[in-house]
Amino acid sequence: MKSVVILASGNGSNFEAIVRKIRSNNWPIEVRALITDNPGAYVLIRAQRLKIPYEVLDFKSFPNKVAYNTMLFERLKANTPDLIILAGYMRILPDFIVEHFRNKIINIHPALLPAFPGVRAIERAYEAGCKVTGITIHYVDERVDSGPIIEQVCTKVRKGESLESLEKRIHRLEHKFYPLVIKKLLLGD
Ligand code: GAR
Repeated sequence: MKSVVILASGNGSNFEAIVRKIRSNNWPIEVRALITDNPGAYVLIRAQRLKIPYEVLDFKSFPNKVAYNTMLFERLKANTPDLIILAGYMRILPDFIVEHFRNKIINIHPALLPAFPGVRAIERAYEAGCKVTGITIHYVDERVDSGPIIEQVCTKVRKGESLESLEKRIHRLEHKFYPLVIKKLLLGD
């Protein structure tokens, strides 16, 4: 049995897609914990509903970033994950966490990196008039939305398509491919 920890800060649709896919396929992967920095995140409701253990490290309750990240490091180590999965985790991991878990932390980004790193990537690709965009799953390194690319899936922006439609399709791609990449990394093909 492999084990993972998922880090998320917001809605948590990727978190839910991963948990559901693991369960429906009976993959030998245990989601040991969901960790969030945001006590108001909807992902917590999903974790409760799915009965996944969760830990809230309320960023605002720590005196500073170092104190927060030190606690996060402790919690990650305590869960001894084979893989740490960022799924809409909106903070930058400090170098000491990246270094300790080198090639054991992955992230998903809703654009074709290295294009459009950072926030609002779908919107920025749309506003730039991209004809093609997509998703990237990559190992995490010391920089933002950077690190060796594991998988990319692209999609054409349809003629006259609304931003809402594109967002929906990008999220659908994320929900389909993130679980598959996780399975491949942990269990092989
Ligand atoms: C996802 O689209 C993910 O790719 C993006 O945040 C969203 C989280 O959605 N991540 C980034 O932009 C990382 N730079 P979710 O909370 O519903 O899974």
